[in-house]
Amino acid sequence: MAVIRVELAGRSYDVVVGKGLLDNPQTPLAGYLRKQEIAVVADRNSHQFHGEALEAALDRFGVGANWFITEPGEGAKSWEVLEKLVEWLLSLGVERGDHIIALGGGVVGDLTGFAASMVKRGCGFVQIPTTLLAQVDSSVGGKTAINTSAGKNLVGAFHQPSLVLADTGTLSTLPAREMGAGYAEIIKYGILGDAAFFAWCEENGPKVIDREPEALEYAVSESVKAKARIVAEDERETADRRALLNLGHTFGHALEAETGFSANLLHGEAVALGMVLAARYSARLGYIPASDAERVAKAIGNAGLQTEISSLGLKCTGHGLSSHMMHDKKMDAGTLPFILLRSIGDAFVDRQVDMGDVAAFLDEELRK
Ligand code: GLY
Repeated sequence: MAVIRVELAGRSYDVVVGKGLLDNPQTPLAGYLRKQEIAVVADRNSHQFHGEALEAALDRFGVGANWFITEPGEGAKSWEVLEKLVEWLLSLGVERGDHIIALGGGVVGDLTGFAASMVKRGCGFVQIPTTLLAQVDSSVGGKTAINTSAGKNLVGAFHQPSLVLADTGTLSTLPAREMGAGYAEIIKYGILGDAAFFAWCEENGPKVIDREPEALEYAVSESVKAKARIVAEDERETADRRALLNLGHTFGHALEAETGFSANLLHGEAVALGMVLAARYSARLGYIPASDAERVAKAIGNAGLQTEISSLGLKCTGHGLSSHMMHDKKMDAGTLPFILLRSIGDAFVDRQVDMGDVAAFLDEELRK
């Protein structure tokens, strides 16, 4: 088991990573239970697979779970579901000093965290992420949001959880494709800031995907450590530090937009392709050797993720893809910051990227 502290003035908290945390009688969850019932938000899948284990954990402290269960998928990150959730929490009499629990993936965490940021001007919440992507990324760092007709994650708040319990045992029921999507965010930490961890991923990526317990726990805890460091340095993404976590996301966003943000391309799969493109584009600009870009592509491909956008069967041009980027929420005063590489393990923010050249580069990648 690893305990990683996210250091934030007045709002520090622990992320606990390990197998079987929900079954552990010493669970740190105990410190956040002050009434006989606690509100728990889950989707139908996380409730089905992990609801009993959480109820048993709460029962040891004489606490019952009061469930709010959503439909699985991004549809739950809507004004309608948020309103229902907030009204429900108020009807339960949730107070500012109470905690609510988010049991599920990134959708459940984002929705619950945003509701918690509003109820009584901000009540506490505990994240129990049950997908690999949520364990290594979205449950840590306090970004919460819903989607609106203008786009994804455009309305939200920074609201830090009080505790994150990342029980790697909950990943045993996760579909294989989602393991791959989560792994993209793991190898990202190596590519953007830790060459030694990248080399470890080159060697051990398939073991993580196969859920070998030691490799999985190591990968999740190293990822959380990296994220905790970055969030502590730049909680609100104002200093070009947290922005590095967007490596692969600008190219990936264009691919997700082109595929309709659908199950045809999961977010993590788009990020994986986006990181290959960011590495190849860094090589095109002369920042890294082409061989390093192909090393990134090979490591990502070894984990079973796609590395060539030509294999997606897209019917668009490079210009079409680059136009999607201009609607990215990362646009800043008319420029789009790109996260590029100075070397594997050293990413930086480039605000001078020529979009015409990006379109030409994407045309070449689409025709490969
Ligand atoms: N997922 C990117 C961030 O938390 O900043």
